[in-house]
Amino acid sequence: MKKTVACTALFALAFGAGTVSAVQQLTVEEQMGRHVYMDKGLSLNRTQSCQTCHHRTAGFADPTNSRDPYNTMVSLGDDGISKGGRNAPTSAYCGFSPTLYKVDGEYFGGMFWDGRKTGAVLGDPLAEQAQGPPLNPVEMNLASAGDAVIRVSESNYANLFIKYFGADFFAVLGDDDTDDGYLDTKVDKAYANIARMVATYERSPEITAFSSKFDTGILTAQETRGQGLFKTNCSSCHTDTVVGSEPAPLFTNYGYVNVGVPVNTRLLDVPGTVYDGYDLGLGPVVGDTAQNGKFKVPTLRNITMTAPYSHNGYFTTLKEMISFMNDRGGLVPEVDQNVTSATGDMGLSGQDIDDIYAFLNTLTDRFR
Ligand code: HEC
Ligand code: HEC
Repeated sequence: MKKTVACTALFALAFGAGTVSAVQQLTVEEQMGRHVYMDKGLSLNRTQSCQTCHHRTAGFADPTNSRDPYNTMVSLGDDGISKGGRNAPTSAYCGFSPTLYKVDGEYFGGMFWDGRKTGAVLGDPLAEQAQGPPLNPVEMNLASAGDAVIRVSESNYANLFIKYFGADFFAVLGDDDTDDGYLDTKVDKAYANIARMVATYERSPEITAFSSKFDTGILTAQETRGQGLFKTNCSSCHTDTVVGSEPAPLFTNYGYVNVGVPVNTRLLDVPGTVYDGYDLGLGPVVGDTAQNGKFKVPTLRNITMTAPYSHNGYFTTLKEMISFMNDRGGLVPEVDQNVTSATGDMGLSGQDIDDIYAFLNTLTDRFR
């Protein structure tokens, strides 16, 4: 009898009954965000949702890329042709990044590899980020914020928004919907509220889980050795202690650095891509050449699942990426300005790299 019970529990875990109960535990706001996150109706031809490029099976990065990281480095847009010039990062653990700010000439916070969603408009970089993809021509490709609000009004979960925000939530349509990034029209406000719900869902335990071995288990001797090497060589940027309101370390200081990632020549050959082999990152966003070539320090949670690596996906495997941090492998930087001296000369042995790799493996969530 006991045996049967154990089997049933195992069966339930393996076949996703756990997911159902997790969903039921989501708040109303998180559930609304979840509907939007998974709604292909927010892309022009209804072919893709946020989840298409940020899926659980790839640590909330692009599963098409992580399945074939050598050949597929960037995401395909809704039009079936266009490709962006940057590797899709995880959409998990982003909710702790503060609004972009500057201290002693260095920038911190904001969203995207180059910080262009600063958080200054909505007071939340993650919500501001969620306004981007539906209207991005190489992603979901809708024409305007008004169009996105219309798509939500036509969805089978529209009633949740009416119940929560009031009967006039969708009555704003037809108002001026020029998408200027400001909150000056009713449509802008409705679109902002939709984005805020998406951000709430991205912060929920279904995406930002804190369920890794690092969070809940005991590390082996090798993993512990790797953790020590990581502290010495990596934690000046990938902070291994709690920052701000984080409940546990996210392994980023939210800063921007040029670590000297090379041009991804394989990306230059990809038809439809906007990549030109010279991505200046933060520099043009803040209008300061002293920031050229700098990209956001990414979180390393779920890093084993999110291949390829770096902003242009140059590195196919995690070990290649760690090895590049160690000695730069004689590679020429894509942007030869403002390159940091904090990476590239670490003197790590092959064993050290294996140990750091073992430690990074402990940062993978056990998804429900
Ligand atoms: C076609 C693929 C695609 C779709 C669809 C897509 N994204 Fe992304 N996402 C990307 C890429 C590529 C980037 C990196 C772009 C950059 O930094 O310039 C990104 C960046 C992000 C980031 C920033 C992470 C960070 O650390 O800065 C978040 C969060 C995110 N997306 C969430 C979403 C949400 C929410 C949606 C749906 C509203 C969405 N994405 C739809 C490909 C996609
Ligand atoms: C001086 C700051 C700094 C140090 C030190 C540093 N990193 Fe990074 N790391 C970065 C930045 C910035 C990026 C993104 C670079 C880019 O794409 O242009 C990055 C990217 C990565 C990535 C790819 C993440 C992704 O989502 O694609 C991994 C993995 C990584 N670092 C691991 C390490 C390890 C392991 C160490 C120590 C051996 C280390 N880093 C040391 C700043 C640093």
